[in-house]
Amino acid sequence: MPSISIFYGSVYGNAQNVAQSAQSFLESKDIKASLIEEPSVQDFNDADVILVVSSTTGQGDLPPNLEWVIDDIKGQTPSFEGKRFAIVAMGDSSYGDSFCGAGKTVFNLLESLKAQALVPLLEVDDLETLDPEADVATWLETLIPLL
Ligand SMILES: Cc1cc2nc3c(=O)[nH]c(=O)nc-3n(C[C@H](O)[C@H](O)[C@H](O)COP(=O)(O)O)c2cc1C
Repeated sequence: MPSISIFYGSVYGNAQNVAQSAQSFLESKDIKASLIEEPSVQDFNDADVILVVSSTTGQGDLPPNLEWVIDDIKGQTPSFEGKRFAIVAMGDSSYGDSFCGAGKTVFNLLESLKAQALVPLLEVDDLETLDPEADVATWLETLIPLL
């Protein structure tokens, strides 16, 4: 069973909580999952499976704690061929066109670097859910058989 490296982008802690909860959920299923703090491009290169949980800030922007490594990846354009990934995009649909923009940016970037999406992007809408951790656990159930 491959191990999962979890990366998160968070301003106020929602996405960080969801990332921590995803790690606990995966470990409860005997799947090795590491939460990567202060990630580097090398951490992405070393990952078997990349799981990114990111909120959106500004107008469709990445949270600063994830933005710099994503900028480094854009600068270095490593090949992620053979690598698999999944993205949880968190946001608020009242932001209209920029809804979940950060997660969508990361999804498109990883695809452009030839990584393969295991499952479609999960959008988590502040306006629609009271329990994002539970929504993500349900989504992870669909991902686990694909590992
Ligand atoms: C200043 C600000 C800007 C935001 N901009 C967007 C946005 O452009 N698109 C979106 O979908 N959500 C946006 N959101 C909503 C957040 O992504 C959402 O509340 C998320 O749950 C916050 O997670 P965090 O605590 O991990 O940062 C914004 C929230 C704030 C406070």
